[in-house]
Amino acid sequence: MSTNQAKPENSPHILVLGMGGTIAGLASNPAINPSSYKAGELGIKTLLATIQEAIPGNLKLLSQQVANINSRDLCEDLLTLLGNLVKTSLENPAVQGIVITHGTDTVEEAGFFLSATCGKLAEKLGKRVVLTGAMLPANAPQADGPLNLLDALKWAATAPENCPGGVFAVFAGKVCLARDLAKRHTSALNAPLMDSPSSPVGLVNPSWMYRVRATQEACGDDLPIPQGLWPWVEILTSHAGARSETIVLWLNSQVKGLVLAGSGMGGTHDAWKDSLLSAVKQGVALVRTTRTGAGATMSDIPEKDLEGCLASGTLSAPRARIALQLALNAEKEAQLAGKSLTWQDFFARIAVLPEIR
Ligand code: SIN
Repeated sequence: MSTNQAKPENSPHILVLGMGGTIAGLASNPAINPSSYKAGELGIKTLLATIQEAIPGNLKLLSQQVANINSRDLCEDLLTLLGNLVKTSLENPAVQGIVITHGTDTVEEAGFFLSATCGKLAEKLGKRVVLTGAMLPANAPQADGPLNLLDALKWAATAPENCPGGVFAVFAGKVCLARDLAKRHTSALNAPLMDSPSSPVGLVNPSWMYRVRATQEACGDDLPIPQGLWPWVEILTSHAGARSETIVLWLNSQVKGLVLAGSGMGGTHDAWKDSLLSAVKQGVALVRTTRTGAGATMSDIPEKDLEGCLASGTLSAPRARIALQLALNAEKEAQLAGKSLTWQDFFARIAVLPEIR
């Protein structure tokens, strides 16, 4: 008998983290109405057992249940927990890659958060963190979760020479950078990445790979993961009939930042003008994005930005909100360390990238 047997956690493996979502959901009447279900019902071990036979024999897996929620209830404490776990696991030499099963409703927030806080580390170590999920519950006749999970495991285990390390997402046979995720449909199976530059999992498209490398080069260093209370940031949408009160009401709160989802190229209603000026004077951080759901928001377009207000580039409102929270937290940490860096410096590092086609 060998006395040299390593404990499973010390031998090379892929770590699979369960967060819940529809991939772990169950419908009460799946054949008739698969869309009526409860998310976060099955554990990660059960999800893996379902695909056991299809998992390549050389892949060693260890799993951990981090949460089992409907991701619309995702909270910042849980992001901190997930981020810390991903970071320490990446640093563990036995962990070759990480797969995270997550609800699709807020997977863009989790994906952006992990990209901005652990992306450079994953890249440096040549390891992949791969988010996946499903649009149909686990017991639906056409459930998409098993194949998504299998594809994510394969992508996490792809040889480094075929793809750099980093934070990715896999849905409906395609892979994209997790920072590009944006759920753009209520029910389509490719909803989380339907408008994101992506490539088939099994046959990597060279122009996508070029874009991955260029985007990774343009991103700055990882930002710190907030360990306590995250800075409070809200998303406000401009619309016909907008009222100044929408901004004024927040000025009496502890809010630290506002993401303004403007119309068209990100312009906001004139009714907000004076109250936004007051917000700037009060030190509330402003980021401008578009409510259209696609395209970039550029600085000083359609008109000159208010002093200090940044445009979100290609980030949607939910991702711009996470970026602003991380930037405000990084500013606070920098100031405590005696450095005079502002939230704008940090926001630009992770969010305002040159347009890469
Ligand atoms: C969720 O986000 O947890 C529910 C929806 C989904 O996973 O598709």
